[in-house]
Amino acid sequence: MNTNSEKILEVKNLTVPFLLEGREVSIVDDLSFDLYPGKTLAIVGESGSGKSTLALALVGALPEPPALKPRGQALYKGKNLLDLSRRELNKIRGSKITMIFQDPNASLNPVFTIGDQLEEVIDLHMDLDEDEAYERIIHALREVKLKDPEIILDKYPHQLSGGQKQRVMIAMAILVKPDILIADEPTTALDATIQMEILYLISELQKTHHMATMLITHDMGVVAEIADDVMVMYASQSFEIGKKQAILEKPAHPYTQALIATLPSRNKDLKPIKGAIPSPLAKPSGCIYHPRCPYKWETCERKQVELYTVKENHLARCLLYDPTESKKS
Ligand SMILES: Nc1ncnc2c1ncn2[C@@H]1O[C@H](COP(=O)(O)OP(=O)(O)OP(=O)(O)O)[C@@H](O)[C@H]1O
Ligand SMILES: [Mg+2]
Repeated sequence: MNTNSEKILEVKNLTVPFLLEGREVSIVDDLSFDLYPGKTLAIVGESGSGKSTLALALVGALPEPPALKPRGQALYKGKNLLDLSRRELNKIRGSKITMIFQDPNASLNPVFTIGDQLEEVIDLHMDLDEDEAYERIIHALREVKLKDPEIILDKYPHQLSGGQKQRVMIAMAILVKPDILIADEPTTALDATIQMEILYLISELQKTHHMATMLITHDMGVVAEIADDVMVMYASQSFEIGKKQAILEKPAHPYTQALIATLPSRNKDLKPIKGAIPSPLAKPSGCIYHPRCPYKWETCERKQVELYTVKENHLARCLLYDPTESKKS
């Protein structure tokens, strides 16, 4: 999308099959997108659309079973992450590609101090002597705006607030100076008042560290604040992809239009989208959104829908943009 800078991750036709109830179903279906240094791609979609599965596939942490081997490519500096051995992948994961999860409690070990846990990350991935490691840790804690980092080091996770713990997780993720940061709903578990603070912090660090960031969210408001590029997901597929401004100002896909209509600032009465996202085991035929779509016509129920070009750098998976389709009269 940002054709003049070099992509750091190129995802091509990524499909993640799961074996569910004896059947192979795609939880992530044929996704293609790129990540660029210093830019944030927001992945937005309702619960169950496959956002976390996408993230886990990229860092080789899918739950197996039910996950089967992913297909397609995720090219990091020309290497397909999906083909790497566990050893090679472990080298990249945690050092070149790091991840922040929704719940910091799940990632912090309750029996070790924050200092011990940060030190462990350095020991695993970097070659620094004790003084250098200490400096690096203190610097990272300052970068995430934690007051009195020297005191924080001796604390155990339960002695910190949720927001402080998430700041520690962010410090842990940037400590190793990764090329790519994946943040999976990093603020959902936090109080509303500090959610935006944490998001702005991630956004600021992403710029100062020139990291490529993939920010997973179900919140279009977050997209509006933080993203450069946006990919909208629905029931395993990418429905729309483009620059933030294009997506917010001229959403092409009826589903994106519906998501944007739920933004409180645009519409005083919050309008939830009617219907529910289908289960991976019961995806509708044709366009998988057709049962919920106010614009559907009979072709939508049977024709396989691809991503079509809406404008330069703006794609939508909707027959309204299929040049071969004669539109509903
Ligand atoms: N371990 C698993 N076993 C069975 N099904 C799973 C498993 N993990 C995910 N799924 C299914 O895969 C689909 C996508 O799940 P995923 O967690 O990737 O969605 P998500 O977009 O991250 O949702 P959320 O916004 O709730 O985090 C869902 O239908 C979910 O039920
Ligand atoms: Mg998720």
